[in-house]
Amino acid sequence: MHLHKYEKIWLVFGIGSLVLFLVVLGVAAFAFGHQPPSHMASVDSQNLEESVFSEPGLEQINEDTYRARLIAMAFGYSPDTIEVPAGSTVIFEVTSQDVVHSFTIPGTNVNMMITPGHVNMAEYTFDEPGEYLVLCNEYCGTGHHYMQMKIEVTP
Ligand code: CUA
Repeated sequence: MHLHKYEKIWLVFGIGSLVLFLVVLGVAAFAFGHQPPSHMASVDSQNLEESVFSEPGLEQINEDTYRARLIAMAFGYSPDTIEVPAGSTVIFEVTSQDVVHSFTIPGTNVNMMITPGHVNMAEYTFDEPGEYLVLCNEYCGTGHHYMQMKIEVTP
């Protein structure tokens, strides 16, 4: 079989790119442990009152670390405000009681989809005091654009 020179170059390039992609993916997954976030823990979205989300809110787990268990719903979050001192690391555990929402803190790398039945997790250290807005960026119904909460970071 005769292959034209350019055909060979493109074949090598194509197969080379594929191998490189798989190697990068493999190293990220197995050597660095990068996994798709969340979806590890599940919860019965029909029965949140009897789950760890029975009393959503903030809980201090050590000197400067807090866990915020929050429920997303059409069209808001419960609770709708949390307050932590600057320098705190907050571990967010968020679930939805109805449809898919998101939990997005603009200006940070916290941006996760909130799926009913799952405990979606993210972690963030609030170094700067101020008021942080949390928004939903998954269209979830007529009140989607009103869906928000606040994180107050006190000095
Ligand atoms: Cu919740 Cu959009």
